[in-house]
Amino acid sequence: MTFIPQDVINQVLERSDIVEVVSSYIPLKNAGRNFKAPCPFHHEKTPSFVVSPDKQIYHCFGCDAGGNVISFVMQQEHMEFPEAVRMLAQKVSVTIPEQNVQGKPRAQARQGLCHVNDLAVKYFHRNLLSDKSAEAKAARDYLKGRGITLDVVEKFHVGFALEKWDGLIEFLRTQGVSLRLMEKAGLIISKTKGDGFYDRFRNRIIFPIFNIKKQCVAFGARTMEKDNPAKYLNSPETEVYVKGQHLYGMNWAKEAIGRQDSVIVVEGYVDFMTPFQAGVENIVASSGTALTVEQIRLIRRYTHNVVMLFDADQAGEKAMIRSLDLLVGEGMHVRVAALAAGEDPDSFVRRYGIEKFKARVTQARSLFDFKLTFLKNKYDAKSVEGRAEISAEMLATISRFPNAIIRSEYIKKLAQALFVSQEALLVELKKISGKHLTPSQAGRKTGSEQAATTQKIRPVERNVLRLMLEEESFIPLTKAEVLLADFRNEHVRNIVEKIYEFCEQGNSVSIPALMSCFDDQKISQVISSLMTSENALVGDKKKIHQDCVNRLLQERMKSKRQEILHQMEAAKSSGDQKRLEELALEFNQLLKRE
Ligand code: UTP
Ligand code: MN
Repeated sequence: MTFIPQDVINQVLERSDIVEVVSSYIPLKNAGRNFKAPCPFHHEKTPSFVVSPDKQIYHCFGCDAGGNVISFVMQQEHMEFPEAVRMLAQKVSVTIPEQNVQGKPRAQARQGLCHVNDLAVKYFHRNLLSDKSAEAKAARDYLKGRGITLDVVEKFHVGFALEKWDGLIEFLRTQGVSLRLMEKAGLIISKTKGDGFYDRFRNRIIFPIFNIKKQCVAFGARTMEKDNPAKYLNSPETEVYVKGQHLYGMNWAKEAIGRQDSVIVVEGYVDFMTPFQAGVENIVASSGTALTVEQIRLIRRYTHNVVMLFDADQAGEKAMIRSLDLLVGEGMHVRVAALAAGEDPDSFVRRYGIEKFKARVTQARSLFDFKLTFLKNKYDAKSVEGRAEISAEMLATISRFPNAIIRSEYIKKLAQALFVSQEALLVELKKISGKHLTPSQAGRKTGSEQAATTQKIRPVERNVLRLMLEEESFIPLTKAEVLLADFRNEHVRNIVEKIYEFCEQGNSVSIPALMSCFDDQKISQVISSLMTSENALVGDKKKIHQDCVNRLLQERMKSKRQEILHQMEAAKSSGDQKRLEELALEFNQLLKRE
């Protein structure tokens, strides 16, 4: 079995999204901040399996399965740890270093890939501008036909891949680039027979994708054929490109986004370019998918205000609906703009002009109105069942607002819009924010059936541990006063020991990374159960922490006193007067110290 370094494991954990991985096996339903489903690991009808996107963990309150994304794959695929890590690593393009092979430092490797990509950008761009072949001419005509001008082509480094199997290979070879590096960059593909390589992109318009440091990390390649089902081919994920972590155009748009304190999110490459060229520069493209948490966090570095402007078709609406809850959950202020049916931002700007486009953005509706309209089209708002469905999906979004006043305002609006009572909505809201999360509320389980991992742990220990995992500042505070021996539960002691260790090494504690330090699955389960449980700590966390620490200290004193009393008993029965006096003195000093 090969050894996988902890930092590589951590990288796999950081790049993997547990929601994505779990939902590739079982359908997940939105439930407040979390997702839920019937547990894949035991038979049940009422879902008690919870996935937390924030904490990147899962837990089943029925059978106590729990852990991080690696444990999930191990359990689901019946894999050993290294195998599961490898499978995930491949998905998120983390290279696991071969044993005993001293790889190049990662930064240098990444630099190498960006350099190769940059060379390819130049090559593709030159093809588009001046290659004499018939297909290059056709590409120029195609762009002209779409109104994409030379300015745009130059600004965004648009290029063209010739209709050849080795055009890029030959060019990069003259630049001294190895085939291995070209393959690592995702630019070439090895032939199935294994003898040699061919260019990934052929006879396609090339849109280079840059990171915010303006290095080229990937390519999107559009066919010019109307009936080609693969309209765009994109680079595979590589060491420098993880699709869900990039937003097309951020490199050009970030200044304007910061300046205007808002961003317009569109779907397509061209939907980004056309408005940008016409002067709307606070814009990025998601590249045709729903937004991921990473993408939202990237936006949040520059602004909290988002206008979603996805295509006015079913796919666009769907992707938008999926993005909304995540945006709200990340504390973003979201509005939704709409275009005429069948239009996308590129076609809209061409047909109606940039001023009309700006007007649509200004008129963007609140997230609430947009989603409600969407749901009223989806369900029959005249029937009771329809209204219940609409309420449930609206409440899933409303429950994500961290602010109670905002939540109650939305409840009021929703009640009016659906002709239902606020009280009923509040009851339902409570259900989603709690129902599946606490064993007590699940109600159907008897004591013996109930998951027991954290039940054996005393509340005081549970609270201290939870506080340390929720807020790092509690770690040094705890460490300064509480000894490992003060924790009676062995699992808790093991976890706290690791947390103290992380803290001593100056590392921050991520929950999935912490879990991966333990071979014992039970320990991960303690953590996942604790961190997905909605038996929330209510009140001032600092005060709760101090109370718990005091309690642990008192217990330590108490057990010390008891220990001394035992020893005094023993000394008395053996007639050791001197020992008895010593112990009595010690006992009194202990009392004084309290
Ligand atoms: P669209 O199908 O809406 O294309 O996909 P588009 O952006 O309007 O493209 P044009 O205007 O016809 O050239 C939106 C985005 O989804 C991604 C691309 O990033 C595209 O810009 N996409 C789409 C793919 O990655 N692959 C595809 O096959 C299709
Ligand atoms: Mn388009």
